[in-house]
Amino acid sequence: MNILGIETSCDETAAAVVRDGRYVISNVVYTQIPLHKPYGGVVPEIASRAHVEKISEVVNEAINKFKLNDPNGIIDAVAVTYGPGLSPALIVGLNAAKGIAISLGVPLYCINHIEAHLHTPFLTDDISDEKIGPAIDSCMPALALAISGGHTNWFKLEKYGEYAMLGQTLDDAAGEAFDKAAKLLGLGYPGGPKIDAISRAYRSMFSCDNLGERKWQESLEPFPKGHPREGVSALAGLPADMCVSFSGLKTALLRYVQRHPELIEDNELSSRIEFSEGEFVSTEVARIVASYQEAIVSAVADRTVTALRKNKYRSLIIGGGVSLNSRLRTVLSNVAHSHGIKILTAKPKYCGDNAAMIAALAYYRNNISGDKALLADVMPSLEVGDKNQ
Ligand code: KG4
Ligand code: ZN
Repeated sequence: MNILGIETSCDETAAAVVRDGRYVISNVVYTQIPLHKPYGGVVPEIASRAHVEKISEVVNEAINKFKLNDPNGIIDAVAVTYGPGLSPALIVGLNAAKGIAISLGVPLYCINHIEAHLHTPFLTDDISDEKIGPAIDSCMPALALAISGGHTNWFKLEKYGEYAMLGQTLDDAAGEAFDKAAKLLGLGYPGGPKIDAISRAYRSMFSCDNLGERKWQESLEPFPKGHPREGVSALAGLPADMCVSFSGLKTALLRYVQRHPELIEDNELSSRIEFSEGEFVSTEVARIVASYQEAIVSAVADRTVTALRKNKYRSLIIGGGVSLNSRLRTVLSNVAHSHGIKILTAKPKYCGDNAAMIAALAYYRNNISGDKALLADVMPSLEVGDKNQ
């Protein structure tokens, strides 16, 4: 079964064709990052206009690539993100998907974007690959971490598709915390990839052995590790030891910058390190950036360990843009390894927003189908496991 997926929840216009929920036949992503860069974040009005301009081209390209691969193949269904995300952006994709489904005379499926991120470890683009990822059922029960620009949530999956929320962020998502820090330090948008690269460059100033590891740890600024206070109403019934809060960390960084204004002043005399080809930061900025990243990674790792201690799992699934973070991947791989379970992460190209994950998930699960899908509205605050249509 070939499903055409469409994704426009934020700042990527994407379309893909996926066979049987796993094989990605075509995958086209047009990113709007250059349009939003001058504003240091996504501007909803600009995002929705850019989706309108690009959607036909992106869908056509995905279908043409699918046809090249399989000249006699047909599209059996259309799947689209209907939430969560930016309302004016979601509307563009949902309406395009409705029109395409009607004109092709095929079913339409409405898909939850975050749930789709958690399906990404099961995607492959090599049709001859016998090892197309572990069979989904054999990975259950699973602990799943959705970590992106808008979400940081832990779920227990007793069975595939049955989500029970275990914990979440009480304020900023991890990706948002990265992006806001980068903005404050003048590192540009989106901040996550830059903070990752700068932190890696800083770590490489120390040796790889245990001594280097200790010296690196000792050099880091002790930023708060995101423990929320017991009893705060934002916990909404979730245990405090399974939730994170990044607002204190963000404030700590702001205070640090206020106390050390020289940090963000262009000081040609300070020592510098190269974090990607031709891009430099001062060693002190790199130390602060690495400290900030480490605070986020250790907060996330800590809650993951707590969840693994509370229940038995066969695997740890990680999905979302922040799952690209190299330090997070290393730390969570070690966590999974020490608990004797598999870690399931997506290929880097499926970590950020894409439509392959939407088309793939639709083969297994959807929130709305049939005639109801053609009447569906967008749900900007949709939650995983939410069947409220
Ligand atoms: O999943 P995604 O593409 O979009 C949402 O659904 O939000 O995630 C985007 C987020 C951004 O906040 C971006 O800074 C972050 O993922 N991100 C990273 C890395 N690459 C992307 N965060 C940390 N390290 C990275 N390497
Ligand atoms: Zn996303």
